[in-house]
Amino acid sequence: MNDFEFCSPTDFVFGKGVESRAGALCAAQGARRVLVVYGGGSAVRSGLLGRLESSLEAAGLVWDAIGGVQPNPMDDKVYEGIRQARETGTDFVLAVGGGSVIDTAKAIAVGVPYVGDFWDFFAGKAVPEVALPVGVVLTIPAAGSEGSGNSVITKGDGLRKLSLRTDRLLRPVFALMNPEVTYTLPAYQTACGVVDMVVHILERYFSPSAGTEVTDRLCEGLLAAITALGPKVLGAPCDYDLRANLMWAGTLAHNGLCGTGRTEDWASHFMEHEVSALYGVAHGAGLAVIVPAWMAYVSRQKPERAAQMAVRVFGFDPAMPMEAAARYGVEQLKLFFLRMGMPVSFRQMGVEHPDVDLLVRKLHEDKGSAIGGYVRLTADDTRAIYELAR
Ligand code: NZQ
Ligand code: ZN
Repeated sequence: MNDFEFCSPTDFVFGKGVESRAGALCAAQGARRVLVVYGGGSAVRSGLLGRLESSLEAAGLVWDAIGGVQPNPMDDKVYEGIRQARETGTDFVLAVGGGSVIDTAKAIAVGVPYVGDFWDFFAGKAVPEVALPVGVVLTIPAAGSEGSGNSVITKGDGLRKLSLRTDRLLRPVFALMNPEVTYTLPAYQTACGVVDMVVHILERYFSPSAGTEVTDRLCEGLLAAITALGPKVLGAPCDYDLRANLMWAGTLAHNGLCGTGRTEDWASHFMEHEVSALYGVAHGAGLAVIVPAWMAYVSRQKPERAAQMAVRVFGFDPAMPMEAAARYGVEQLKLFFLRMGMPVSFRQMGVEHPDVDLLVRKLHEDKGSAIGGYVRLTADDTRAIYELAR
């Protein structure tokens, strides 16, 4: 087990109606002027935004809003938000949405006090030291950004989708999580979210580090719960307990707990980010295509983790050979994604002819010549994996 430091400072406020506490929580953080960031309109149509505005007003706060953040968020909205926040004197950013909105809010928060171009942080040219505080009202369990210190933004010029990773600076100060707010999610978005949280666990579970039994069991317990809950939620989208458990699972999958004491992988995410940047597909759908191909490929060299997953999560006979167990694990994962209505190949995702040359070139330009903590992958390997996913 590796040495580690685990800090998850976010105040998670969970349950029915918790959005009514937004104003009081912002005020408690010393906010005076709040910038509300939201997406393409689901939060307006559901009435959530109206309820939040009432809560902010009741707490005596002045607020401004910036909407229209699109999935796989782009840098132009961040620049617009930074301009607006500087003009109005914003001192607190409130994200109302999922990963795309939260990541845009975080990028605005880190860009406002910085004299240079916020993209410097994403391109690795500068390290942020200060940021405005960010609060979250979560509307989709998926990206886990409500509990992570990361932000993922795509630069329109060159379609470079890059992440800024911070240990603490960009972790939201609070996250308001009302499962009822997620009842309006279309089945496809629910399924994309489920895939993303499963993969956030796998990125940490597929680790070269030994001696992490507790972290392993945390991951396996979450995987067992999510794979049982996912199909049920599709059949009962307004079941409170199903939605609630899924929402909390999404946070636990990505707040760092599942990676404690070990080296993580992240090759699948790096590979997928190129796909969603280039083809505009939902991040979860892109992962459903890449991850089974990736897992099958790395398991040929190192079957241990897929085999353990097969036995402990999918009930495979532990007496059987490890290679057979690994193959079973990959197949079960794929079947689960299919049961959730997800594509498991580029073709099924509607990308008939993926430009593998371009994907591989961009991937290694942005992420280095070798990626992945479990098995190191060079351009030959990632090319083979993209090909497997066709
Ligand atoms: O824009 P609106 O109208 O709100 O619609 C959204 C959007 O179309 C809709 N939606 C959200 N809540 C809803 C709802 N529709 C009905 N009812 C609701 N309650 O769902 C669609 C997808 O939203 P989005 O925010 O894009 O989803 P998600 O949370 O999956 O975020 C994906 C983004 O997060 C990044 C991904 O790469 C992608 O850009 N990630 C961020 C991470 C992080 N910051 O730590 C980690 C992840 O691995 C991921 O890379
Ligand atoms: Zn993800």
